[in-house]
Amino acid sequence: MITQDISLAASTLEKGGLVAIPTETVYGLAANALDGKAVAQIYALKKRPLDHPLIVHAKDSASAQALVSSFPEKAKAVAQKFWPGPLTLVLPKKNTVPDLTTGGLQSVAIRVPNHPKTLELLSRLNFPLAAPSANPFGSISPTSAEHVESSFGSSAPLVLDGGPSTVGVESTILSFLRDEPCVLRLGGITLEQIEKEIGKVSIAEKTAKPIAPGMLAQHYAPQTPLILLNEGDSLPSKKKLGLISLKKPQLTEQFKQIEILSPHGDLNEAASNLYAAMRKLDASSLDLIVAYRFPNLGLGRAINDRLERASQD
Ligand code: TXA
Ligand code: MG
Repeated sequence: MITQDISLAASTLEKGGLVAIPTETVYGLAANALDGKAVAQIYALKKRPLDHPLIVHAKDSASAQALVSSFPEKAKAVAQKFWPGPLTLVLPKKNTVPDLTTGGLQSVAIRVPNHPKTLELLSRLNFPLAAPSANPFGSISPTSAEHVESSFGSSAPLVLDGGPSTVGVESTILSFLRDEPCVLRLGGITLEQIEKEIGKVSIAEKTAKPIAPGMLAQHYAPQTPLILLNEGDSLPSKKKLGLISLKKPQLTEQFKQIEILSPHGDLNEAASNLYAAMRKLDASSLDLIVAYRFPNLGLGRAINDRLERASQD
């Protein structure tokens, strides 16, 4: 059921239930992060392996800090700058955070989400919310309440409707477990924004052995095969092609369906439309979805990252 009722969402969570919550990045499938039994239902509904850690959503920096045993200066600097917002910090956890929430790791991934409804919900609860993206494991993340309902069908949880997600790709994950901060996943806060605050950071290889389970190369994928091309690459000879394009493409006749992510070429707008476009193309009985690599700057990096993952098989 889709609801606008924050009190209903709060009471469902207080009883140990699940609620899909709106965030600025994607919708999350939330439960009390400090209650292992509640968190277990998230894994069950998503069919997510138990060793894939969840992101914990806190109402503010102080409540985030209460969950960790250390909060280095650079982590504080980016938290101060980007929270509430699409930046997740990985820090050593305190024992109050159940092992199931962190997939057995001794660290916890935390963020303060920037969505008025979810911030209001968090302020009414006396616990933080564990919430992975509200989609079955491995499929396309939801950026609207309707996406959540349609991807879970009859087993869909209560969904708190907060309208379409404005950022549209998941949060950037920044780990502070080693000496140098390391980006584990590109996302809604750009590399440029982070480096402006705390200087150079490294980026974890996504195809190499993942630093954390869940950083799989193949992820965020439509059912229809997808290929990522560079400009000038020739098109495969498939009958029904779909295209994901930043702006209006020059050649259109090869494609049965085209999804333009931003008519004016704005990468932020493009990110907010990416997953809905993938869903539309996936529902159009195409043989293949084609995307051309986006400019590798700002949110273009996160878009390329998701397209690369969607194109692995
Ligand atoms: O924008 C987002 O981050 C959304 C919204 C709902 O907040 N959430 C999200 O969650 O994308 P999920 O479960 O789809 O992705 C969580 C990622 C996984 O790749 C996981 O490996 C990583 O966070 N992660 C969680 N805890 C971690 C930890 N302790 N160390 C390293 N990575 C961790
Ligand atoms: Mg996900």
